[in-house]
Amino acid sequence: MTVYQASATAPVNIATLKYWGKRDKTLNLPTNSSISVTLSQDDLRTLTTASCSADFEQDQLWLNGALESLSSERTQACLKDLRTLRKGVEHKDASLPKLSEYKLHIVSENNFPTAAGLASSAAGFAALVFSIAKLYQLPQDLSEISKIARKGSGSACRSLFGGYVAWEMGESPDGEDSKAVEVAPLEHWPNMKALILVVSDDKKDVPSTSGMQSTVATSDLFNHRINELVPQRFEEMKSAILKKDFPTFAELTMKDSNSFHAVCLDSFPPIFYLNDTSKKIIKLIHKINEIEGKTIVAYTYDAGPNAVLYYEAENEDKILSGLKPYFENIQGFKQPQTVTSFDFKSFIPEITGVSKIIATKIGEGPKETSISLINESGLPK
Ligand code: PMV
Repeated sequence: MTVYQASATAPVNIATLKYWGKRDKTLNLPTNSSISVTLSQDDLRTLTTASCSADFEQDQLWLNGALESLSSERTQACLKDLRTLRKGVEHKDASLPKLSEYKLHIVSENNFPTAAGLASSAAGFAALVFSIAKLYQLPQDLSEISKIARKGSGSACRSLFGGYVAWEMGESPDGEDSKAVEVAPLEHWPNMKALILVVSDDKKDVPSTSGMQSTVATSDLFNHRINELVPQRFEEMKSAILKKDFPTFAELTMKDSNSFHAVCLDSFPPIFYLNDTSKKIIKLIHKINEIEGKTIVAYTYDAGPNAVLYYEAENEDKILSGLKPYFENIQGFKQPQTVTSFDFKSFIPEITGVSKIIATKIGEGPKETSISLINESGLPK
């Protein structure tokens, strides 16, 4: 039996200018452009092996050891596009095997708990699409491939690039100009660090798709956000990244997170993603910046209560000193070298609810790897 295969890893990205709202639900076309930072795959990544063979009987996916359905419309849209592009390749060179006609076996694994509420769907769809693009030896560039990942999960298109990434919303009804592009590579501003404070939460969030639909349909503030605020911030944030202007980048990041959660609250019925722990962390970050006399750290929150903090490596000690009074016993907390003289506890007595801390940094885009998750018979190892 001949099994063709390719493996790749793909990163998580956390938006600093949020995507919230779809103008086309099937194609995942957004109502606004967005910007993100790609995080290091040393700490958070999906590894996927894609394989195909004339002997496979059906498309199959194994995710973190369990057989998963591939039947969702989104996944089907990705597979269909990839097969169409492969057909183009086969058409040009008739000697190539007809992989576009073979069934696929895909095995995928995260190096972080899927349940932690981290952006696993972005890394997941990016790794799925990138590994199949490699298997099919597609000549298309990453922006082209990002349009396919976008159909799986909107934010996944940004995980096709490392460093600082924009998703240009585009105008075309068919989505052909709605794609990810690089704003700046990792090397341009490599000292960007990210600290993820995983906040435990008992209630289930409103899933992002239905949350977005509800905001688009009911929020009065939403039009102001997508027509005025985001277009201006999009240009300002790209320019702050190009200039490595951290205070401006950080302020825009925090304001945009707040604006996104404001349109959630303005939806009817309202959507609450932040909890009391998230709110106390917001206050603490503003206090750390106030004591410093300048903005050295930013917070941002996705569709859940976890905080992601961005800061430059040279300020890490100051930030950790501000977090220490609350989180020094939490798994993953790194002790600062210096101790702050400010009495944080008189300002906020306690912050409970953080279960784990992941210290990471800016990282690279998807990579092909020789590590395979599939054996010679096309089954998970
Ligand atoms: O791509 P989705 O459907 O997982 O939506 C992501 C939405 C946010 O994470 C809240 C914002 C963003 O731009 O990533």
